[in-house]
Amino acid sequence: MRVLFVCLGNICRSPTAEGMFRQHLEEAGLAGRVDVDSCGIGPWHVGKSPDARAQAAAISRGLDLSTQRARQLCDADFTRFDYLLAMDHDNLAALDARRPSDCDAHLGLFLAFAGFPDRAVPDPYFGGDDGFEEVLDLIEAASRGLVEDVRRRLEEGA
Ligand code: 4NP
Repeated sequence: MRVLFVCLGNICRSPTAEGMFRQHLEEAGLAGRVDVDSCGIGPWHVGKSPDARAQAAAISRGLDLSTQRARQLCDADFTRFDYLLAMDHDNLAALDARRPSDCDAHLGLFLAFAGFPDRAVPDPYFGGDDGFEEVLDLIEAASRGLVEDVRRRLEEGA
C-alpha cells in the first residue's frame, strides 16, 4: 500500500502528515506494509527541509521531520500511489486536473479520514505559531482514521 500526502509547498502540512502517519503506522504494527511520501504542487521549495516552525511544532509532539526534503508532484505519482491525499481544495483541484485516465488511486481530502468530508487543513505558512498547532491537531485525527482505512484495505486484500 502506498500513501502520498500533497500540499502546496511540501514544507509545512504534507511533511507533518508524513511524519505523523509514519509514527501511527509504527504504533499499529503496519510500518513495513505501507510506503509513505509527501510532495508539493509548486516548485518553490524543492530540496528544502520542512519549515522551521513546522519542525518545532512537530518536535513538541515527538515527531522528527528533519530528514525530509521537499519535492514536487510528478506524473508517476498517479500510478505509483494508492492514495493521493490533498490538504486543501486547491491541492485537490490541482490533482484532479492532472489525473491521467489510467489512474485508479483514491484522490481526496485528507481530513475526510477525520470525519470532515469537506474541510481543509489550513495553510499555516503566512500565519503565526498557533496555525502549526491547529495543523497538528487536525492531522493527528485524520492520520488515525487513515491507519484504520489502510488496515481494512490490507485485510481485504490479504
Ligand atoms: P505547505 O505551506 O503547502 O503546507 O507546505 C506553504 C509553504 C510555502 C508556500 C505556501 C504554503 N509558499 O507560498 O511559498
